[in-house]
Amino acid sequence: MSSKTHSRKYWVGGNWKCNGSLSSIAALSEALNPSPFPFTKDDLDVVVFPTALHVHAAVEKLPGAYNVGCQDCCVAAKGAFTGDISADMIKDFGLNWLIVGHSECRAKRGDSDEKVAEKVKRAMEAGLNVTACIGETLEQQQAGKALEICYQQLKAIANSVTDWNRIVIAYEPVWAIGTGKVATPEYAQTKHMEIRTWISDNVTKEIADNLRIVYGGSVTPSNCETLMQQPDVDGFLVGGASLNAGFVDIIKSALVA
Ligand code: 13P
Repeated sequence: MSSKTHSRKYWVGGNWKCNGSLSSIAALSEALNPSPFPFTKDDLDVVVFPTALHVHAAVEKLPGAYNVGCQDCCVAAKGAFTGDISADMIKDFGLNWLIVGHSECRAKRGDSDEKVAEKVKRAMEAGLNVTACIGETLEQQQAGKALEICYQQLKAIANSVTDWNRIVIAYEPVWAIGTGKVATPEYAQTKHMEIRTWISDNVTKEIADNLRIVYGGSVTPSNCETLMQQPDVDGFLVGGASLNAGFVDIIKSALVA
């Protein structure tokens, strides 16, 4: 057990990325519904992020303790953006959570800091809760620039936040995503503490104390407990390991921390 002293409500997300079918989501929903069921919405926030096509199936099949959100949104409120879904549409559909700035969107879809900032703004205006992702690549880490990159990404996000109660920061070092190379608990703690310090110095100490900062990158049932014991780790954003029953064990690690 850790000696955490704050009152932040833990947060665990399952980013399903571009995975799933109607039948696999039905099976996964059963796997994520063990008996006895281990948590309620009062205990912690758990959010899964299916593809937009599968949101409806996930809402229908998962127990009510799970929230369901979207993986990305359009940079604009509406208009000629073929293939996009706007923050207003996500809210209108009845969803409350959105991921913005995931490294895969930054690297593969051209999401610059400016675009990420614009999306955070749209999501804030729409009334959504936002999980905003930051994190350095391996090259940036090796060049000693991890903190500089994280602060640069954080600054762009912070400039667009109008309600700090509606934001979770996901620190996801790109070198840890889908690689099996999880950050050590010490590395994760240091980065989370540095992120909290930046918020304290540049926003307010009160907001920093209440902000949830979660870790993402090769989180599994076997490494989550020690990560979760770190004082500044407030939960996880999980990729691969959120696609099977082991996700419940990761959620449980946040219940006992
Ligand atoms: P993995 O857990 O598969 O490394 O993915 C992490 C991630 O990108 C969550 O957003």
